[in-house]
Amino acid sequence: MTASELIDLEIKLLTEGIFQVYGYDFREYAEASLRRRMTQWLSGSAFATLSEAQSRLLREPHLFENLLRGITVNVSEMFRDPSFFKALRERVVPHLKTYPFVKIWHAGCSTGEEAYSMAILLREEGMQGRYRIYATDIDAEVIRKAQEGIYPLQELQRFTRNYQQAGGKASFADYYTARYNRAIIEPSLRENLVFATHNLAVDADFGEMHLILCRNVMIYFNQSLKEKVLNLLHSSLVTGGFLCLGAKESLSHRRIADCYHEISPRTQIYRRHYGCP
Ligand SMILES: C[S@@+](CC[C@H](N)C(=O)[O-])C[C@H]1O[C@@H](n2cnc3c(N)ncnc32)[C@H](O)[C@@H]1O
Repeated sequence: MTASELIDLEIKLLTEGIFQVYGYDFREYAEASLRRRMTQWLSGSAFATLSEAQSRLLREPHLFENLLRGITVNVSEMFRDPSFFKALRERVVPHLKTYPFVKIWHAGCSTGEEAYSMAILLREEGMQGRYRIYATDIDAEVIRKAQEGIYPLQELQRFTRNYQQAGGKASFADYYTARYNRAIIEPSLRENLVFATHNLAVDADFGEMHLILCRNVMIYFNQSLKEKVLNLLHSSLVTGGFLCLGAKESLSHRRIADCYHEISPRTQIYRRHYGCP
């Protein structure tokens, strides 16, 4: 067996062990990216090989948490891909307004920027009090940060630019308070916003959502896990509901593709057809 094949085997054994012990399923994550992240984590650790690390990883939850942080990519930003948020505001919100109350799910919300962006957008569109946002992630630590809603002040310049390009109607400074080198999100934006841990690979669906965003999450999954997660999202979405993917993701060639149409090219916003099971 070559050294490279041995690493692949170690990853396979470790991901199986992680699944059995902690219930986190990385067995169907894209191989190349998982390997890169695990070896990166290893080189910053005191262990020489993944086999050596394995027994402690399976026995010491805090060490596993540390690996988890290395495996998952948590980068996010407010109004990420402003043209996407602009399309959401102009093309999706008018449909949402026709419902008395809407339910929105951010699956893989990371540190919460995307969910707070949505809360700002809905407030500006006059939907305050008529929505509930569920924002979930596999990683309990990012959910804790999302709940806090505190971001480094140096990020705010980019967030503000994104907000303006996304068609923001007010001043972005209205939505946070700057204190020392941190920006604290305006607490009222947290109303109707529920943060929770949820693992897309193993946990159950969320019922009856009108809008689901799962952006920049499935890029790390292999083909079969992508299909599984898309089925989960599909079964959580009402007929006529909207499913939003990341800029490098699409529904083409996916089993559920026939049930959707993209509202306009390259928006990665898909609407579920009426009459589609
Ligand atoms: C790159 S972030 C994307 C954040 C946000 N959606 C955005 O586009 O800015 C990907 C997130 O997916 C989460 N994730 C990875 N695997 C997951 C899984 N199986 N279930 C739920 N979340 C997962 C990661 O923890 C990470 O926070």
